[in-house]
Amino acid sequence: MARLVYYGHATFGLYQDGTGLVIDPWFTGNPRAPVRARDIRCQYVLVTHNHADHATDAAAIARASDALVISTFELATALGEQGVRAHPMHLGGQRRFDFGRVRVTPAYHGSGIAGGHAAGFVVDFFGKVVYHAGDTALFSDLKLLGELERIQVALLPIGDNFTMGPDDAVLAARWLGAAHVVPMHYNTFDVIEVDVEAFKRKAEAEAGCRVTVLEPGGELEL
Ligand code: NI
Ligand code: MN
Repeated sequence: MARLVYYGHATFGLYQDGTGLVIDPWFTGNPRAPVRARDIRCQYVLVTHNHADHATDAAAIARASDALVISTFELATALGEQGVRAHPMHLGGQRRFDFGRVRVTPAYHGSGIAGGHAAGFVVDFFGKVVYHAGDTALFSDLKLLGELERIQVALLPIGDNFTMGPDDAVLAARWLGAAHVVPMHYNTFDVIEVDVEAFKRKAEAEAGCRVTVLEPGGELEL
């Protein structure tokens, strides 16, 4: 049984048997992080973009676990120069790893690194298909992604201001055809405070998905 663990903001872990994969590791300085970066052990670290609230602990965690970092070319290269093992990919690319498969998706956002792109990931983790949208605006190619992938759980930003807000995230959920949505990137700071229960009600009514609101440290069996 695979587990999805929420570490607050946009940080998630996927675990099954001995394999761990962490996406957008931000523990150090995250006011809602339930554990510290040094508590994390994993084999893979995926990073959507180089903003501090997504990438701060990527190198330290990868180094401590000798984990493989998977990111876009510019960011993977920069992390590789910090002495971690890194596998560069880019938008539209897919690759198989021993847990399954990664598809790098576009995200409409800044990359936080010169020449780079913001991204999201579809992760097929031992047959469970999870989409981490990264930080993104709503964009209509989410419909295409919904056609390309049978997404079981979509991790969608809902905090507004820096990313899509709750109403746009309801449309995103509908276009993706995701069976299950877990909201992220909200209530970490004042500027991204939203009513998550209102989002849940609206998304379940209008997008036909189940919504699970996870508290930091909370988890979901996939
Ligand atoms: Ni960002
Ligand atoms: Mn962010």
